[in-house]
Amino acid sequence: MNIVVGITGGIAAYKAVNVIRGLVLAGHDVHVVATEAALRFVGRPTLEAISRNTVNTDLYEAVAEVRHVALGQAADLIVIAPATANTIAKLAAGLADDLLGTTVLASRAPLVLAPAMHTEMWQNPATVANIATLRSRGVHLVGPVSGQLTGKDAGQGRMAEPDDIVAAALAVAGVPAGSSGSPAPRIRDLEGRSVLVTAGGTREPLDPVRYLGNRSSGRQGAAIAAAARDRGARVTLIAAHIEVEPPAGVDLVRVETTEELLAATVEASARHDLTVMAAAVADYRPVAVSDAKIKKAHTGERLTLELVQNPDVLAIISAGPRDGRVIVGFAAETVGSHEELLALGRAKIARKGCDFLVLNGVGWTTGFATESNTVTVLDASGDIVFEASGSKSSVADDILGVFAAALSGAQ
Ligand code: CTP
Repeated sequence: MNIVVGITGGIAAYKAVNVIRGLVLAGHDVHVVATEAALRFVGRPTLEAISRNTVNTDLYEAVAEVRHVALGQAADLIVIAPATANTIAKLAAGLADDLLGTTVLASRAPLVLAPAMHTEMWQNPATVANIATLRSRGVHLVGPVSGQLTGKDAGQGRMAEPDDIVAAALAVAGVPAGSSGSPAPRIRDLEGRSVLVTAGGTREPLDPVRYLGNRSSGRQGAAIAAAARDRGARVTLIAAHIEVEPPAGVDLVRVETTEELLAATVEASARHDLTVMAAAVADYRPVAVSDAKIKKAHTGERLTLELVQNPDVLAIISAGPRDGRVIVGFAAETVGSHEELLALGRAKIARKGCDFLVLNGVGWTTGFATESNTVTVLDASGDIVFEASGSKSSVADDILGVFAAALSGAQ
């Protein structure tokens, strides 16, 4: 692939060298477009040596070759890392006052941004609005992540790690990278399919400052969305409260409460081939939400909350017409033995009416914020069809193989 890597003027520019290196090692032809500011942070000779091509900066260089548009027109993929708040604002406005701006405007290639800035700048309403504009135009984002920033502060705004940027950028272009950074042969059994994943925990407000929630991190759901994308699917992720960055290259819908999740899921599930309900849905919500903060002076020594059951999203979408679509539920249970887990799972899939149920055991220290998972997949008749163990991403990838096969069988 012909890839343009844009580098803008942030301290993280030095890390862009490893993004370029990863893309070159994966066999791609990389053309660097650096802003003047970027070259104050990282030297042109380094960028030329690593990219094996001339670095382009000046709008008025090689005018005879019409380079200001040629680079963008020839690109199969554009990756901007780091993308500063200033560059993001310029891209949102469609400005073309430098070579990077003209290159992006003149290109129809997917655009991947790896933002890097201080937390205050990332959270500034101007940046938030610019990011929303770019997302709505289909621009893909990798990070930023939380961590140590330049200086003494830490928080969200740190550029994603170069390997993650390379992997996400190649996935957006349909060429997933292997762990070594070189393209790995992958199964693309969801090519042409649409996959809906719900993830994270819903939150039910009690008053303007409090909610009832759960400990779901959304990791497993996010991993399923990323794995489905890598298997070639068009993916929608409905995210309740999640503690991880949503994967790049998926359509993201944010929800808060179970009612919001229900509305979004019922609408989206009907137009997706596969629905995976990995969200941890709050089963109950307060009967009444207080308009003002609940005060101890009024509630006294004991407080009784009256709750009402929430609708069962999975059961509702499973009850509708299927038309070859496949619906998958998750069940996290606190149990003493595998037999107990299977018994609860069998009762649950019968009650919910979905096609598969992914079962896993949870406890105070297992299942939620962890990176790994062990799951058993039951089919509609309660038979074990698959067992997988490993990192949440490998488990996600493995179980998707089962659902992809069911989709082809349903054709
Ligand atoms: N689920 C749902 N709507 C709810 C509750 C759960 O869609 N109101 C979905 C979850 O996303 C998951 C599956 O149902 O895919 C099982 O969730 P779980 O909480 O285990 O099921 P419950 O019906 O709440 O059963 P339990 O009584 O064991 O809590």
